[in-house]
Amino acid sequence: MNRRPRVFVTRVIPDAGLAPVRRATDAEVWPDELPPARDVLLEKVRGVDGLLSLLTDRVDDELLGAAGPQLRVVSNFAVGYDNIDVPACTRRGVAVGNTPGVLTETTADLAFALLMACARRLPEATDYVRADRWQTWGPLLLLGKDVHGATLGLVGFGRIGREMARRATGFGMRTIYYDPVRADAAVEAALDATFAPFEEVLAAADFVSLHTVLSDVTRGLIDAAALARMKRGAILINTSRGPVVDQAALAEALRSGQLFAAGLDVTDPEPLRADHPLVGLPNCLVVPHIASASERTRDAMARQAAANLLAGLRGEPLPDPVAG
Ligand code: DGY
Repeated sequence: MNRRPRVFVTRVIPDAGLAPVRRATDAEVWPDELPPARDVLLEKVRGVDGLLSLLTDRVDDELLGAAGPQLRVVSNFAVGYDNIDVPACTRRGVAVGNTPGVLTETTADLAFALLMACARRLPEATDYVRADRWQTWGPLLLLGKDVHGATLGLVGFGRIGREMARRATGFGMRTIYYDPVRADAAVEAALDATFAPFEEVLAAADFVSLHTVLSDVTRGLIDAAALARMKRGAILINTSRGPVVDQAALAEALRSGQLFAAGLDVTDPEPLRADHPLVGLPNCLVVPHIASASERTRDAMARQAAANLLAGLRGEPLPDPVAG
């Protein structure tokens, strides 16, 4: 390619990644806080050689067709890539990259923060003080659940699930996990984690934390039946993808006391409006998909996304390719 490659970046990302992209390409960067509307996105990708996308952008056959045959690479600023039709990209010879590894610990930190906040009812406690309802020390005031000594059940035992297990060891928790692929004995031993079938993890855990990808198999995995299988008074944490959980069933389980609380970094849809039933429940803590949102991690994600984009534009293998 003799001319500078043309790329579209669908949102302002940290300068750690944006600067190298601007230096090496003829880049148009979408400047707004909200993602480009679908028709705008289809227009903006017309004729580009590379696309730096976010999880809010659907990259499918229609978009690839709108972009044109010169498109070489789609670089997703996320580890998850359920927004991308990877087989469609592969069919058209478009490389796809993501940002694994750099956000693992930051995401596990947030999942653990949700776990602790739900267990000890921190949102209710801060609301209580803000509403000036604090009168005295109370023997029965805002009683929660112990984290130490409890059983953590992980659904998904990839990078982030394993970091959750590592954190749990520091709290004297017992960890059981389900994953379609069982980990090596050495990994299990190092993280003090025991494999169990999915149903057993649900039934035995005081805290169930979801760390699975979104796929046809996991969509709606935590439905009414799964919630009923959980221990009465257990806590559910979701930092994976919103559609893994049936939210109507979750709201019912939280209302009935089947679950003590839930902590959600991800919802379906996103954003979840303030009048959604889950947002109104005192035992449901919803945060706006911020698990990877630390300054250092977002810089690292930006660098990684830029590296994938630029490698793809040069026709080189991506440092972090997504297999079709
Ligand atoms: C991801 O990377 O998939 C997260 O959901 C956002 O960082």
